[in-house]
Amino acid sequence: MTREDGPGRGAAPSEVVTDRAHNARVWNYWLGGEDNYLVDRAVGDQVTAMYPSIGEVARADRAFLGRSVAYLAGEAGMRQFLDIGTGLPTAENTHEVAQAVAPDARIVYVDNDPTVLAHARALLTSSPWGQTEYLDADVRDPGTILGSLGRTLDLERPVAVILLGILNFVPDTDEARSIVRRLLDAVAPGSHLVLTHPTLELGGSGNEEAMRFWNENATPPITARTGAEIASFAEGLDVLEPGIVSCSRWRVAPGEDPGPEVAQFGLVARKP
Ligand SMILES: C[S@@+](CC[C@H](N)C(=O)[O-])C[C@H]1O[C@@H](n2cnc3c(N)ncnc32)[C@H](O)[C@@H]1O
Repeated sequence: MTREDGPGRGAAPSEVVTDRAHNARVWNYWLGGEDNYLVDRAVGDQVTAMYPSIGEVARADRAFLGRSVAYLAGEAGMRQFLDIGTGLPTAENTHEVAQAVAPDARIVYVDNDPTVLAHARALLTSSPWGQTEYLDADVRDPGTILGSLGRTLDLERPVAVILLGILNFVPDTDEARSIVRRLLDAVAPGSHLVLTHPTLELGGSGNEEAMRFWNENATPPITARTGAEIASFAEGLDVLEPGIVSCSRWRVAPGEDPGPEVAQFGLVARKP
């Protein structure tokens, strides 16, 4: 398989569908990765033409992951992470950020995209003191996810539940809310919710047409939400400072270039 018609690393397993753009691979393309196909690059370029800041959104989302996970593993003392909607392995994956601070951190990754599954071994490079695991599962089935965590995570102790750029693939807001509630109800007090989500607020109205194009040409279908809807995912939790903000504005270190404000909300909240 060549760079022109296939991914840069590894062969496509038979279940990988390459006649339609898939989110994990297009996200990888926007992040400058090579694990994508012509169909993904074509749709990715078309979306960029309609909504030029999409690449900034993807990079800001990853930078938010780095800052939030470093905070959780450090100051907040978290040692267990459940990262649902992992995406294709890239630089600074959750276990690398967490274990750089806390080498004994344990991480379970979850995604339902067969291309991510094919590259999951790159997510399983734990430090010798910690552990990583990969689950091929759907966020819309939290019962199965929770039932599979026992090998790696102890739900009697706090867990950071990471949902970055994934609830936007659950179109029904009540269903998305109930998924978050189910996951957070199952973990101990002191657990955290870490979330990013696209919005048409924060200057993101230009994304409306691009999302329509996406839904006609790619999979899975995506939806934007308002700040109020996104805030409702954290109901009953204590949202940490600086609140629900553009993810590029969340706890940027003094002297660090935050880049532009992007139309992607980010929040970290603690279960009391
Ligand atoms: C926009 S990417 C975000 C990747 C990573 N969390 C990040 O922030 O860089 C969304 C990921 O969610 C995954 N995904 C979408 N719908 C899903 C579902 N129903 N169940 C599990 N994973 C899903 C996609 O395969 C993709 O890898």
